[in-house]
Amino acid sequence: MASAARTASRAFLRSTPATSSFRPAARSTRFAIPANGVRASARRGYASEAGSEKSSSSFGLWALGLGALGAAGGAYLYLNDSSPKGPFVPTQADYQKVYDAIASRLADETDYDDGSYGPVLVRLSWHASGTYDKETGTGGSNGATMRFAPEADHGANAGLKVARDFLEPIKAQFPWISYSDLWTLGGICSIQELGGPKIPWRPGREDMEIAACTPDGRLPDGAKDQRHIRNIFGRMGFDDREMVALIGAHALGRCHTDRSGFDGPWDFSPTVFSNEFFRLLADEKWIPKKWNGPAQYTDKTTGTLMMLPTDMALVKDKAFKKHVERYAKDSDVFFKEFSDVYAKLLELGVPFKTEEHIVFKTSDSE
Ligand code: HEM
Repeated sequence: MASAARTASRAFLRSTPATSSFRPAARSTRFAIPANGVRASARRGYASEAGSEKSSSSFGLWALGLGALGAAGGAYLYLNDSSPKGPFVPTQADYQKVYDAIASRLADETDYDDGSYGPVLVRLSWHASGTYDKETGTGGSNGATMRFAPEADHGANAGLKVARDFLEPIKAQFPWISYSDLWTLGGICSIQELGGPKIPWRPGREDMEIAACTPDGRLPDGAKDQRHIRNIFGRMGFDDREMVALIGAHALGRCHTDRSGFDGPWDFSPTVFSNEFFRLLADEKWIPKKWNGPAQYTDKTTGTLMMLPTDMALVKDKAFKKHVERYAKDSDVFFKEFSDVYAKLLELGVPFKTEEHIVFKTSDSE
């Protein structure tokens, strides 16, 4: 994006009120670090993780000057917590610091795509969480198993190394946070910083080992129809209304031919969270794109926007369409329902030890 356009979109962001009906929980709350986190007397870090999209996960250790030790020591590295003060117990203020660091990196690193890494961070948080299977209780954001080759290499996850790498300096700065908490926090920070609703979040995810990788095929395929959407999101436990609200995240970002094969953004402001995806889906005329690529749709008016076959299924299916029209008409309703369902998505299958949620301050709040 040209820098003038970026400035304009930032100015818009600053003037966009964050709709929130949530009240921040008390700031003094302390959170227990999961059993295999830094609170325990030994902490396990991955010194070498397999993966064709590898590089990211060992960065923290290298940054701590421990990379060579890890490489020499094989797959795992154990760090003794010998702090005389005892284990570090993060407070809400510590998590706000992580949020602020991600927000500040998002604001600094604008030389990417349409000017923000936010959309790809949202996609990372969703792909980490959307593997959940309610029958077996497997998958979900707990574990951050996309650090490992089997899951990083799933076709649906193509391009997400960019997002994982973006968060590595944050992990190096706050080594006590698990990757699984960090990736989900990256998603909610991006939504909030790009003008979306406040999303209540809580910590407690634990990173798991390679054996916990989920099988391929749990994430949706954009070339398919409404039956596929209901199969995939039904497996996670979502109803029609929730499925439509979640897919509204396509207001952000774009498709890349070298990642999914599809091409283009869904709306004219891909770095601003809004209900534009639904407005355009409901109001525009969408025609099949003529090109040498997978079947997708383009808007008749400008020929510059796109919809996936799964996006079009949201207006072809009457039960889905009802919600598209509600969200197209009322941005506040979309923001509220999206906030609820995205928070639910990021928590699927996580055995939290706290009921208390944090609502983070955005970078533009007083
Ligand atoms: C039927 C369900 C869905 C399908 C088939 C689907 C498919 C896709 C595809 C093909 C892309 C383009 C990837 C690329 O080429 O870079 C994409 C991008 C994206 N998706 Fe989805 N998606 C679905 C649901 C969701 C949900 C539930 C969320 C979040 C809550 C989401 C958030 C995003 C975002 C933010 C991007 C833009 C990423 C970027 O700009 O790099 N999607 N999606």
